Amino acid sequence: MYDFEGVLKDIKDKGLYRELRSVEASQGTYTVIDGRKMLILSSNNYLGLCDDSRLKNAAIEAIRKYGVGAGGSRLTCGNFVLHRELEERLAGFKEAEGCIVFGSGYAANIGTISGIADKSWVIFCDRLNHASIVDGIRLSGAKLVVYKHCDMEDLESKIVRYHTGKSLIVTDGVFSMDGDMRR
Ligand SMILES: Cc1ncc(COP(=O)(O)O)c(C=O)c1O
Repeated sequence: MYDFEGVLKDIKDKGLYRELRSVEASQGTYTVIDGRKMLILSSNNYLGLCDDSRLKNAAIEAIRKYGVGAGGSRLTCGNFVLHRELEERLAGFKEAEGCIVFGSGYAANIGTISGIADKSWVIFCDRLNHASIVDGIRLSGAKLVVYKHCDMEDLESKIVRYHTGKSLIVTDGVFSMDGDMRR
């Protein structure tokens, strides 16, 4: 029988045991977690949009009109005019040909990478890229070649060695573990 207790003890002994904390207020510079006012230094609410009254009102209006669930994937019956409008406006803002919005960073990284590449590709991946990028590469079936963090010389030597006709270089812009940026 699988030794769940032993595995849990091992995780705790290594200081890796994590528990979910309950957030009791909206996300701003501060929030309330487990009854205590806390300064947040780990959220992705970089632009302060979580508590923006214009967005909250737009979301409430959209829920009144369209309800609270998509009722299906976007390929079946869950692709609302609102999705299209958002993507068209974002593409215009970025001066891009098109845009696709995902519900989370994880979904974006596994969706785009596995949508572009397949097992005939080689993907060069910064060693400190977010785990969701690595999952996306694995899902694509492409050959994964890891280069040293932000090291263009190492990347170049690996491209020379492994490049085939279909290659992709994937890097984070801001690396989430250390907070440093792509150079
Ligand atoms: C650089 C980076 N990529 C992807 C993700 C995954 O995003 P999400 O938590 O929205 O799935 C994160 C999350 O912290 C991130 O920091």
